[in-house]
Amino acid sequence: MIKQAIIPLAGLGTRLLPLTSVFAKELLPINGKPGIEYILDECIDAGIKEVIFIISKKKEIIKKYFYNDLFYKKIIKKKNDQRVKKEYQKILKYKKIIKFVYQNKPLGTGDAVLKTKNLIKDSHFLMLLPDDLIIKNNCSKSMIKIHQKYKSSVMASMKVDKSTVSRWGIFKLKKNLDKNNSLIDDVIEKPSIHEAPSNKAVIGRYILPKKIFNLLINQKPGKGGEIHITDAIQSLIKNNETFIAHNFSGKYLDCGTMNGYIKSTLEIAKL
Ligand code: G1P
Repeated sequence: MIKQAIIPLAGLGTRLLPLTSVFAKELLPINGKPGIEYILDECIDAGIKEVIFIISKKKEIIKKYFYNDLFYKKIIKKKNDQRVKKEYQKILKYKKIIKFVYQNKPLGTGDAVLKTKNLIKDSHFLMLLPDDLIIKNNCSKSMIKIHQKYKSSVMASMKVDKSTVSRWGIFKLKKNLDKNNSLIDDVIEKPSIHEAPSNKAVIGRYILPKKIFNLLINQKPGKGGEIHITDAIQSLIKNNETFIAHNFSGKYLDCGTMNGYIKSTLEIAKL
């Protein structure tokens, strides 16, 4: 069973500047609720028992959001407001399952994953990228089922417009396993249109094997000077590790850009 999830949260959020110069994008409300809570709810509903947040000193506001007990206790004592009580209960529920590790230099997703090395217990774990919301269907839950069926690593996949391939990790597929799942032959981080082997992109949900840490320890920086998780996955695939691309059925919302963030609020308000 997959019981642990990790969430890289130390990113600078440059696509959402100027707001992110003073605030963590993951706490921005989407239809009234911080984006990170959608991600936590997805984890809890998928049966995850522990969530590891990878934050940085600059993003300690995220930790504070879950550790503001004194503040809540004072207000509740003074006002006995039912809504505040309910909100505090919710925060306490999340806090119980969250652990924090630090990535103080923004060296990339691969480097963020490496920070969780000593905390991962089982053979596989889930990773969720907080910019990527998937609504209407719990993508993590579906991926955990696929992992249990095929005993392999899994990544969420979606067809994208060919002109945007350089924004994503892009798959080369080997063969279809069933309607929504295929074996992956290769994956390339942010290829040019000419390099891209397809228009099938990695979306931010991964079930990764613990052995990926061994590769990450020695991994050299790739595109843009960052240590990408995609490059470590590519090496694992070359070493015959089975990875499945899962074509998820929910709706993808990109909260990492201002346009996408605004659209996300509108989409979630419709639910
Ligand atoms: C990351 C991954 C990329 C993936 C994307 C999905 O990119 O590196 O492979 O396709 O998330 O959102 P980033 O959004 O950090 O540029």
